Amino acid sequence: MIVLGIETSCDETAAALVDDGRRILADVVLSQREAHLPYGGIVPEIAARAHLDVLDALIRDALAAAGIGLDAVDGIAATAGPGLIGGLLVGVMTGKGIAAARGLPFLAVNHLEGHALTARLTDGIAFPYLLLLVSGAHCQFLAVEDVGRYRRLGTTVDDAAGEAFDKVARMLGLGYPGGPAVERMAATGDASRFALPRPMLGRDGCDFSFSGLKTAVRQAIEALPPGPVAAGDAADLAASFQAAVTDIVLDRAGHAIARFRARHAASGTLVVAGGVAANAALRAGLAGLAARERMNFVAPPLRLCTDNAAMIAWAGVERLRRGLVDPLDAPARPRWPLDPDAPRAPGAGVKA
Ligand code: KG4
Ligand code: ZN
Repeated sequence: MIVLGIETSCDETAAALVDDGRRILADVVLSQREAHLPYGGIVPEIAARAHLDVLDALIRDALAAAGIGLDAVDGIAATAGPGLIGGLLVGVMTGKGIAAARGLPFLAVNHLEGHALTARLTDGIAFPYLLLLVSGAHCQFLAVEDVGRYRRLGTTVDDAAGEAFDKVARMLGLGYPGGPAVERMAATGDASRFALPRPMLGRDGCDFSFSGLKTAVRQAIEALPPGPVAAGDAADLAASFQAAVTDIVLDRAGHAIARFRARHAASGTLVVAGGVAANAALRAGLAGLAARERMNFVAPPLRLCTDNAAMIAWAGVERLRRGLVDPLDAPARPRWPLDPDAPRAPGAGVKA
C-alpha cells in the first residue's frame, strides 16, 4: 500500500510517498523561509499563494523521486488542520482533486496526528506511548492509545515552546525561524550568566507556561546597553533561555510520566515530536530522564521533527489500513485538537 501525503498547514510545502512497510519512497519539502524573512514571521496570505504556486510541481517531483506514477498510489492524504486556513485549503483541494480524478480514497489528516505517529514510521513502536508534542503552536503531553485515540495529560497555559523560541530569537535580532537560530547561538553562550525564571517548576500536573520566561528575557535585554544586542550577550541569553526551557520541560515530563504510568503501567516508551524536538539540548535532557525512569526513548531524525509530508502520508497509511477514509466534503479545520474532550487549559487562548 502506497499513500501520497500533502502538507501545507504552515510555511512548508511538502509532498511524500510512504508505504505500509514503513518505507519513505520520496519526501520533498520546500521551505517558504525566504518569502517570509522580510516580515520576521509568517504572513498567511503569502503562505497560501506560495503553496499554490509550487504544490503541483512538488507532487510531480515526489512521484519522480519514487520512480512511480499515480497508478501505483492507493490513497491521498492531505493535512486538513490545524493550521492557516489558506494553506490548508490549497492542500486539501489538491488532494481531493487527485482523489476524485483517480477514484482513490481521500484521507483528511490532523497535522498533530502526523507528528504523533511519526515514531511508528521511524521506529515501529507499539501503542500506547507517552508523547511530548512540542512545535511552534503546540506544547502538550498526550497518551497515544491508538490511531485517532489521544488523551491529553497537560498543555501550555500560554505560549507554545516553539513560539517562545521564535519570540526570543526576534528579541535578540536572530531572525526567523527562531528555534534553530537560538540553538546555534546558545552553543557558544554561558547558560549560568542570566538567572531566568522556570515557571511551573515543581507544580502539580504537567501543564506548561512560557510567557513569564519570555518577559524575563525581554527585561534582561532592556537592562543591557541600548542598541542591538552584542553577540556575546545574545549567546549568553540564548544559552540561559534554552537551559530554562529544558529544565521546565524535564520537570513537567517527570510529572507526565507518573500520570501516564498510573494508567498504562506496562508500557514504557517516551516519544518527543514536533519542530522543537529538533533541539539537541532538549533531546539529550529527555533521553537522560527516560534512562533514569527506565523508559524507552524515541526521537525522530531531525528532518522528520520539523514539518514534512512523510508524516502525513504515514498517518494516511495508518488510517487507510483501518478503513478510516474521509468523504470528499471533509472540511479544512484551522482549529482541530487531537483530544476534543480535554478541558481548555486555564488562561489558554484560542489555539488548538
Ligand atoms: O512542527 P513545526 O515544524 O511546525 C509547527 O507545526 O509548528 O515546528 C516549528 C517550531 C518553530 O517554532 C521553530 O522555531 C521550532 O519548531 N524549532 C526549534 C528548533 N527547530 C525548530 N526550536 C528549538 N530548537 C530547534 N533546533
Ligand atoms: Zn508541525
